This record gives sequence, C-alpha cells and structure tokens, in this order.
Amino acid sequence: MDKILVTGGLGFIGSHTVVELQNEGYEVVIIDDLSNSSEKVLDGITAITGKTPIFEKLDLKNKEGVEAFFAKHNDVKGVIHFAASKAVGESVQEPLLYYENNIGTLVYILKELKKLPSAAFIFSSSCTVYGQADELPITENAPVKQAESPYGNTKQIGEEVIKDTCKVVPTLKAIALRYFNPIGAHESVEIGELPIGVPQNLVPFITQTAIGLRQELSVFGDDYPTPDGTCIRDYIHVVDLAKAHVVALGRLLRNKNKANYETFNLGTGKGSSVLEVVKSFEKVSGKKLNYKIVGRREGDIISAYADTNKANDELGWKTKLTLDEAMDSAWKWEQKVRAND
Ligand code: UD1
Repeated sequence: MDKILVTGGLGFIGSHTVVELQNEGYEVVIIDDLSNSSEKVLDGITAITGKTPIFEKLDLKNKEGVEAFFAKHNDVKGVIHFAASKAVGESVQEPLLYYENNIGTLVYILKELKKLPSAAFIFSSSCTVYGQADELPITENAPVKQAESPYGNTKQIGEEVIKDTCKVVPTLKAIALRYFNPIGAHESVEIGELPIGVPQNLVPFITQTAIGLRQELSVFGDDYPTPDGTCIRDYIHVVDLAKAHVVALGRLLRNKNKANYETFNLGTGKGSSVLEVVKSFEKVSGKKLNYKIVGRREGDIISAYADTNKANDELGWKTKLTLDEAMDSAWKWEQKVRAND
C-alpha cells in the first residue's frame, strides 16, 4: 500500500488522520518536532489501529533534514501537511516565526516533492481565509479576505505557494482543505486534543472549566446580530475531518481530481452559537457550566459556516457525527487526560 508522509502527525488533527489512514491500509510515516505534541500519542494510535507508524522527530525548518528524509523515503506517494504554528495571538507578536514555520517549511517540502515522479499533497488550510464572508453558507468561491493575523495570512500565502507550484510542476497534485472548527476526540478516547497552557479555543476551554482547571468560561459577547447574540461557527468532529483527508488523498492518488490544485471546505454546514455549544456540553455531561458573558474578543467574526456541497458531491464525503457526539467525546477525553495527570 502507498507510503504517506504525515507532517505534524502527532498533533490533534494529524493523529486522528493517521488513525484513519492506517485503518485504510496506508503505510504512514510521521514527521513531528514535538513542539506542540507528545511521543505518547504514538501509543494511542497503536492502541486504536494495532499498528505503530514510523516516526521521525524532525524540525521541518532543518532544510538538510528534510532533504535527507526524502532521500531515504523516496517512495513516498503523498504528503498530508499539518505541521504548522496555529496560535493567532502569538502570530501577531512573532510574525517572522509564523512565516518561517508555516511558509518556509512548506517551500522545503514542495521542493522535495518536485523531484519525485509523482506526488499528492494535502494542505491544512482554514476557513479563516474567508474572514467575515458576505454570504452564508460559505462556498469555495467566496472571496479570500484580507487576513486578520499573520497566522491567517500564512494560510492564504500557503495556498498561493501551492497553487503557483502546481501550475509549473505537472507531477504535483494538491488539495487545500479549508477547515471550519475542529473539535472532539476519537471515540476510543486514546487520542484527542492536548492544548498547551490556557486554551484559546472554545471547546477545550469548556472542558477544562468543567473539570476545574479554569474557573469560568468567558463568553465573548452576546450582542452580535445572531439569534442568541453569540457568535456562530461550524463545529466539525475531528474524526469526520480526518476521514475527509483520506478521501481527498485517494482522489489525487487515483487521478480523480478535476484540476492539479483544488480547494474544499470541510464543515458540517450547520452553524452553532457559543451558547448552543455550552448547552450541548451541559446536556451530554450532565454538568452545569460556569460561564459569564464578557465583552467581544478582538478580531472575532460574527458568523461562519460551510456550504458543504462541493465536498459532498465531488469528494463523496459527508460528516456523520453530531455536535453532541463531539462534545461527549471531548468531555470523556478531558476526564481521561486529567485522571492520568
Ligand atoms: C480561532 C481563530 C482562527 C483559527 C481558529 C482555529 C481567533 C480570532 N481566530 O477561530 O483564526 O483559524 O481558531 O483554531 O482567534 N469563545 C468564547 N470564549 C472562549 C473562547 C472562544 O466565547 O474562551 C468563542 C469565540 O468568540 C468564538 C467561538 O467561541 O465565537 C469559537 O472560538 P475559537 O474556538 O477560538 O475559534 P474561532 O474564533 O472560530
């Protein structure tokens, strides 16, 4: 079976994708620098799939290291590239770190893929490229808006770098997947999200509050023009999201793509407000969540949810898991992590 490189394969979305790839019989090699992940994640992957992927600890900023990796693994057929920095606030403080980590490393990998007889490349992009879209749900044709942060900009630039490269390298085929808001954990509770420090994202903040690590959740604004006044997002179960990567990869490997560079939105198509997420959590956990309404967070958009038609029709992929199932798995994962602390 084809050998696939997964960069950042020990991270949140990466690890769930490695599980789905192995379940489909792919041979997986992971590169991860462990800057925001742990080698223990390999045990979780092994527990679920019965197979341990090959793991190479490597910082992708090490150009010679990347070259040496591809010299050794010149039979790689595809790359799913998750490795990147993702803290929006940090990216404002340290823009060069973000451009180096997210763009520099992308260039090194593409340079190596150019040398291969053929290569499939899947890129982790984000719905953040749309900013506050003028029309909802958001289709892939919605215009890319001025990025709010260097992090967001690295996703936009990353897409451009890949698109330009695909134009001149006919042996390279790529898909950029624009994720909406990934949440939840694998149902086995062997792998999940492991945020370092105070979580910036809603769901880990909710579960950490419920377990007693945080005092209360601050809901950022209830005066938005939405039904309950809180912001709306499209929360997608990480397992559904992981499966989409395997489908997108298969599309490229089997030459089913319509162009050498394509983009797909990955979401459920359903928007949920912050308070709806809180309610879902309270329902599945049976716990009351301590929260208070505070002022708006700078840079937050009001509402974003995906038009899923292109992914549904062309990838033949659809989300199966619900918000409640995602919140239930996130809560079970939080309890397991803290029990082991
Ligand atoms: C954030 C990033 C975005 C990134 C995405 C995925 C910002 C401004 N945006 O998006 O660039 O692509 O994560 O990682 O950081 N909320 C609260 N209280 C909290 C945390 C969040 O009320 O403690 C609300 C937010 O206002 C928002 C929703 O929950 O309405 C989701 O927030 P979050 O999980 O941070 O995701 P995004 O804002 O969509």
